[in-house]
Amino acid sequence: MRAAGSTTSALKSGVRRLLGRTGFDIVRSTDNRGGVDDFIPFEATMRAARAAGLSVGDYLDGVMNGTPGATQSTIDELRALGVFADSPKTVLEIGPGSGRYLEKTLKECAPDRYEIYETAAPWAAHLVETFGVVARPAQGSSLAPTPDASVDLVQAHKVFNTVTFLCAVRYFFEMARVTRPGGRIVFDVMTETCLDPETVRTWATEGGAGHDSYPAAMPRRTCVDLFATLGCGLEAGFLAPMGVATTEVLVFRKDA
Ligand SMILES: C[S@@+](CC[C@H](N)C(=O)[O-])C[C@H]1O[C@@H](n2cnc3c(N)ncnc32)[C@H](O)[C@@H]1O
Repeated sequence: MRAAGSTTSALKSGVRRLLGRTGFDIVRSTDNRGGVDDFIPFEATMRAARAAGLSVGDYLDGVMNGTPGATQSTIDELRALGVFADSPKTVLEIGPGSGRYLEKTLKECAPDRYEIYETAAPWAAHLVETFGVVARPAQGSSLAPTPDASVDLVQAHKVFNTVTFLCAVRYFFEMARVTRPGGRIVFDVMTETCLDPETVRTWATEGGAGHDSYPAAMPRRTCVDLFATLGCGLEAGFLAPMGVATTEVLVFRKDA
């Protein structure tokens, strides 16, 4: 990695202060119904990533978050679980932000259409321009422009632990609706698996200050039982790093 200049250092220390409070990376939203109220400025972050000679995703993982390889490790787990094995032709991602998961997903498969629902306008525009994805209007928790049973892979990473319970569960219904039979639904939530007493203490003492909506917990069983009623069975779950602790990535498959 090339040495970063003084502007980059200043940005990094500012961002570190911010991340010390939030524990993870978030972007300003133009219509932020999830209560995320801090941001990583688009232009400055892009400049810093370029100066470091990294993609913005790798810059966020390695430099800003201090967890190099974290995004790739989730993608590796998903590959091992066979999520990309059927070569998804249509992918939909909620809240891609900088696009760090999007970029790596596109290395695993070559969908004909990749739709995004992202409330942060500058980042959404960047993803459209860079990756040729289709940005849909993100309003609350609706995927209305996407037809029923039309998507092979629906995913959201580090989104449902930043928004309210209602925002998340309304998206859950929509995710099940748009997924085609046999398709996959992948998202992470901070479940009870991630919340032993010691970890709760760590969050209470070190994480999340200044963000009422982060980290938001979601019972695992609520997800599993709800998706079961929507014809989607849990295939797998694994932990991924988030802030001062972890989040649980859940993989569902819609009945064929
Ligand atoms: C913590 S960031 C995660 C970004 C990205 N998925 C990642 O892991 O790097 C949460 C993202 O969700 C977006 N977001 C917040 N509320 C949303 C909503 N209601 N619909 C769609 N995106 C939303 C934010 O703008 C932000 O990009």
